[in-house]
Amino acid sequence: MLVHRSGPFRVRPVRPPRLKAHAPCMEADRVVSDRRSFDALPAMNDEGYRSVRRIESVNKIPFWPTWAGGGIRAMLLNNRDEWDPFLLLAHHKHSFSPWDPLRRIQKSIMPEGFPMHAHGGIETVTYMIEGGFLHCDSHDATPSAYRKGSVQWMEAGTGILHQEMFETFSNRNADIELYQLWINTPTDMKMRSSSVTMLGDEYGRPLPVVRRESGDGRVCRTEVIAGIVDGQSPDFRTNLPVTILRCTMQPGADFEHTLPSAEDTAVLYVRRGTILLGRADADKRPTRRFTYGWTDLFNQEPKERMSEDATASEGDLVVLERDGTKVRFTNTGPGEADVLFLSGPPLREPIIQPSPDIVCGSMDQAREMTRRIRELYREYFGSQVAAK
Ligand SMILES: [Fe+2]
Repeated sequence: MLVHRSGPFRVRPVRPPRLKAHAPCMEADRVVSDRRSFDALPAMNDEGYRSVRRIESVNKIPFWPTWAGGGIRAMLLNNRDEWDPFLLLAHHKHSFSPWDPLRRIQKSIMPEGFPMHAHGGIETVTYMIEGGFLHCDSHDATPSAYRKGSVQWMEAGTGILHQEMFETFSNRNADIELYQLWINTPTDMKMRSSSVTMLGDEYGRPLPVVRRESGDGRVCRTEVIAGIVDGQSPDFRTNLPVTILRCTMQPGADFEHTLPSAEDTAVLYVRRGTILLGRADADKRPTRRFTYGWTDLFNQEPKERMSEDATASEGDLVVLERDGTKVRFTNTGPGEADVLFLSGPPLREPIIQPSPDIVCGSMDQAREMTRRIRELYREYFGSQVAAK
């Protein structure tokens, strides 16, 4: 029986997902959803370097609006084949001031973070860029904070309940910035028990940092969140051989990486700065670009245009073709560039979602996982009620 211990913030119950015998939310046709089709552009593959399939500009969603601004860039990965095994990437950036009058209003509508909710059949990776996240889950209901430079790797397995709240203060500002990535778990590994692993200096599992200099002394600093770079990898074995790198690059610095397979998915997101994909000395290549507004969450079509070259800047998401094993980009801007690079083997398995954060590989698995998660809700909130 799970025992809830009261913490410094309230646990608010979220209605558990309901699964009926023929639940309409479980759509078999969501195995692969591709609401847009793309004609192939002329190949720009030089010496095994990957070409750019498209660049997407993602606008901020004004969640948790504050006086200082802030919001989320949520990349919902509409084209699952291109993103497989990744399901979602969210870039949060928020500033909370104790004297902000807007906070009083918005806190009455929604809490500052994510109250107790379930995940199943996926792994969530949270990387803190700035500030802290207060976390508790159905293994340990005691809230604990993890902060800048730390990574939480949560394997949801058959189901876990957890709460993630922004760490704010009553007497000073809190600037909070983080990435959260959802990775699909192979179907035959989804029914394992859940686990939470912390990485970072604070947990005795530092993330390796690789420094590479270009010929003229310009430095690319690569923090290895998952995967191997120059023989260095974190002290954690992932289920899938995914690579997650944060590259901070001085002006003119290059980043180059060789993927294990030409079949691997590879995407990158520009947090700051301007980069040019491919070889810096290559001819200019026309690149297909899409601009998304936050209203595109409601299935509006993005705006499409062509650009002269494969240059990506702040807030851009770059999807690479599967046409080589080498990836290269260069910081062509006047300041530092900060880029998140992701790669991994596509699973090419069915995706059945009783709810957005529960991902199963079959209808039977969805029924069983939903049953277990409902049981978890009953145990967790049942014990909370009994304790009062
Ligand atoms: Fe979550």
